[in-house]
Amino acid sequence: MSSPEASLERSANAAVTGGFNFIQLADPQFGMFAEISARSPERIAEWRAAGRIVREVPLMTGFAPETGLFTEAILVANQRHPAFVVVCGDIVYDWDDDPQAEEARRIAGQLDEGIDLHWVAGNHDVGVDSGHRTPTRESLARYRAGFGPDNYAFQQGDTSFIVLNSSVMQAPEEVPDEWKSQLDFLAAELDEAKRRGSAHTVLFTHIPLFLSDPDEDGPESNSAAIPLVQRRPVLDLLRRYGADAVFAGHLHENNYAADGKMEMVASGPVGYPVGVDGSGFREVRVTPDRIDHRWSHLAYKPPYKESAAD
Ligand SMILES: [Fe+2]
Repeated sequence: MSSPEASLERSANAAVTGGFNFIQLADPQFGMFAEISARSPERIAEWRAAGRIVREVPLMTGFAPETGLFTEAILVANQRHPAFVVVCGDIVYDWDDDPQAEEARRIAGQLDEGIDLHWVAGNHDVGVDSGHRTPTRESLARYRAGFGPDNYAFQQGDTSFIVLNSSVMQAPEEVPDEWKSQLDFLAAELDEAKRRGSAHTVLFTHIPLFLSDPDEDGPESNSAAIPLVQRRPVLDLLRRYGADAVFAGHLHENNYAADGKMEMVASGPVGYPVGVDGSGFREVRVTPDRIDHRWSHLAYKPPYKESAAD
C-alpha cells in the first residue's frame, strides 16, 4: 500500500479544488491513564510479554493527561480548520462516569464555530470492556442522552458519511434488535448515497471491521475487530455499493488494511497509546477522485515513568 503521508502531500500541493478536509480523532478515553497507572507489575509484564509497548504511568487519579492531549487535538483542529472533526469512540474509559464525559464535552466545546463535531460510540462508551461483553439498553440510553445518536449519517460536499455503533455490531447478544436495525440502516443509507450520486461513501466506526484480511477469523479478530459472522453482511453491503473507506480506532495504534479498493484504517489514539506511533490524530483530504490521509503526532508529553518509544 502506498504511504498515506506521501499521497496527502501530493494532494495538498496540487491545490485541488472542490475538496475538503476533516480530522479524525480516536480514543481520547478519559480515565485510561489512571487505570493504567494502577495496574499491577504482573499485569504490565503480561502485557509486555504479549508484545505490547507499555508506557508506565506513575500512580494517579483523574484525567490530566487526557485533558492535555485532547485539548491539543482540538486546538490543532482550530488552526487547520477542517470541515469537521470526528471522534471515533472511546470518548471515556468508564461509560457511567459523569466527570469523564463532562470533561470530554467541555474540551470539544472549544472547537471553533463553523467546524462540525461528530461523536462515534466506542465500546467503553457503552459499557463494553473486559468485564462485560455486550451493550445493554441502559448503556445505549446513557450514551444517547450524553452524546446523541450512535447510528446516523451526514453529507459533506459530494461525500456521504455513515456512523455506526460497532459495539452493537461486535456483540449484539443483549440488544439483537439494535443489530438488525443497524444493518437495515446501513443498507438504507448506502442506497441513499447511491441515489444522491455521491462521489464517495465513508464509514466511521470505533472497532475496525477486520485487522488485516477481510476473511480472517479467530480469537484476535473476534475481540479486536468484528467477528466474521457479523462482518460478512456488512462487507457484502459495502462491496455492493462500492464504499471507499472505513475509519476506526480501538486498537490504540495505527493499523492499515483493505478489502479490494476499500481502505480499512484504524487510527492510533489521542489518549493512551500502545503502539510505536504514540498519541496523535489523522487529517483526511477528500477530493472528487480520491481520499488521502496522514497521521501526525501530538506534542503533549504525558508523565510517563520512563522515556517511551515515541
Ligand atoms: Fe480505546
